[in-house]
Amino acid sequence: MEYQNIDWNDVWMRQTKKHLESGNRKECASIWKEKDAARRFWNMSMKDDQKRAKETIRDLNITPESKVLDIGAGPGSLAIPLSEKVENITAVEPSKGMVEVLEENMTEYGCDNINIIRKRWEDIDLENDLEGPYDAIIASFSLGMPDIRKAIEDMQAVSSGYIYLYWFAGERSWDTYSKEIWPKLHGKEYHSGPKCDVLYNVLYQMGIYPNMETFTLGRTETYPTLNEAMDNLSSHFALENDEQRKILEQYLESKLKYENGNYIYDARSNRVKIWWNSKDENG
Ligand SMILES: C[S@@+](CC[C@H](N)C(=O)[O-])C[C@H]1O[C@@H](n2cnc3c(N)ncnc32)[C@H](O)[C@@H]1O
Repeated sequence: MEYQNIDWNDVWMRQTKKHLESGNRKECASIWKEKDAARRFWNMSMKDDQKRAKETIRDLNITPESKVLDIGAGPGSLAIPLSEKVENITAVEPSKGMVEVLEENMTEYGCDNINIIRKRWEDIDLENDLEGPYDAIIASFSLGMPDIRKAIEDMQAVSSGYIYLYWFAGERSWDTYSKEIWPKLHGKEYHSGPKCDVLYNVLYQMGIYPNMETFTLGRTETYPTLNEAMDNLSSHFALENDEQRKILEQYLESKLKYENGNYIYDARSNRVKIWWNSKDENG
């Protein structure tokens, strides 16, 4: 096939569909519906990931008067520290667990300028749900949108400034592990979701030629017991019963390095920041 004829949005859709089907999921956000998983994500953000939030916020083109749209805000990893630096934030978040933790965090940190819209981005009514245009739009590791082209068109429609997308470059370690263990756990192959190569091509076909920066996120994680490793890692493996739990436990025991009484998991992965000014000719 001539590469010019590839419909990259279709590639994104197919990869997303295969990814969700292999995990028996209907939508990306469902992984966070339990409050425990959302709380763990927040705790991890506070412990290991504060540098990421700081650097992300430092590099945004914002002023104290800015109106910000945070799509897939999660527990507020960015929205909570960002709220004191801008006029207001609209946080779009469909997952029940994440919304509960975000609300608790807003109370704890005294953030009264965050408005939560409990919907998936693709279900938003641009005119009635939102009060755009927004000076900055962020979608950080939240591109669980099957029709990514439409999702980006909608972002452009309510933007008066920069749009920032954060996504994955290459496989994450749990993608690699999943490919190995999925057939034993679920009796089928694992398919990882689309990465930034597809995303860049979708943007290019839309006539958007964005900036792109690669960085590494995460660190090696140390777990004193296999149980603790399981508690933190099992959410990636769509476990449904004890038998699967046992299979994963044995697998992790054989995979994780054991050093000085600890299990070591290399959670580092390559990520990208992709951004452009929606008002530029090539944005
Ligand atoms: C990994 S968390 C990232 C949270 C936060 N943006 C951050 O950078 O830490 C991904 C979030 O995106 C949300 N999400 C997934 N699919 C979404 C969609 N289609 N529309 C809006 N949010 C979505 C999930 O519910 C989850 O809270």
